[in-house]
Amino acid sequence: MKKKVTKAIFPVAGLGTRFLPATKSVPKEIMTLVDRPLIQYAIDEARAAGIKEFIFVTSRGKGALEDYFDEAPQLEQTLRKAGKKELLDTLQSTNMESGAIAYIRQHKALGLGHAVWCARRLISNEPFAVILPDDVIAGQTPCLQQMVEAYAENPGCMVAAMEVPQQAASSYGILDVKEDMGSLVSVNGMVEKPDADKAPSNLAVIGRYILTPDVLRNLNKKKSGAGGEIQLTDAIADEIVEDRPVYGYRFEGERFDCGSKSGFLQATVAFGLNRPELRDDLMGYLSSVVDTRKAAE
Ligand code: G1P
Repeated sequence: MKKKVTKAIFPVAGLGTRFLPATKSVPKEIMTLVDRPLIQYAIDEARAAGIKEFIFVTSRGKGALEDYFDEAPQLEQTLRKAGKKELLDTLQSTNMESGAIAYIRQHKALGLGHAVWCARRLISNEPFAVILPDDVIAGQTPCLQQMVEAYAENPGCMVAAMEVPQQAASSYGILDVKEDMGSLVSVNGMVEKPDADKAPSNLAVIGRYILTPDVLRNLNKKKSGAGGEIQLTDAIADEIVEDRPVYGYRFEGERFDCGSKSGFLQATVAFGLNRPELRDDLMGYLSSVVDTRKAAE
């Protein structure tokens, strides 16, 4: 199937317990790197890849996420009156076209595969993307755009992939590599969160996917997998069983695991250093902190 990818699913129903107490009232996806919520990075990446329809799989307590994408006419008017053009532009760059976003609830936390399946009626017979906003990827060409370009040449299912240390395998979906062609690898199988000593490779799935509607059909089986959850990895692996192609794509760019505190802090520093207006201050501060700590040790 060689159709354009114009829809993306954003699974955002997770409770974000690793960030409690913050996530008691703030959805994890609204937490900010410098001044942009995690979800904004994901949306910007999707837009750059040509996505036109954005499907959010949400849950109770995610109202702030829906409000975030509403237009803010009062705020816009205040900024306009005050002549704050730059801020107004920043604000307007987050506006979405009416009808471009759909919200669907995942009523039960049954896993990532189940979350994606909840959006099945909004996807017709066309390929679609899945973006996990926890995985923030900084790159010259946004990751999903790289994948959409690779997909145009290699239709099938495609997952973003990255080498991880062997002991970290149990935190990821891991690829069983059939043929390594450089940035693209074809895949024999995929295992969700294997024990480190049973991992078929050190190539891990990162939260960007281009999937065929067949994967949604596979999810109909509601097969329970690792951790007793319905796993997206398993539904993609079922494609291989059916002899349909699945690829891993080694993207160019730096990935931050913003689902962990350490990854989130690292992303904050990296994105801060990328801002010309913050760079010098932040660099000065970081090197002085490091020097002081070292001297004290
Ligand atoms: C999910 C996927 C996993 C993938 C990971 C990437 O796991 O199930 O295959 O490797 O995202 O971040 P989670 O981190 O939600 O447990």
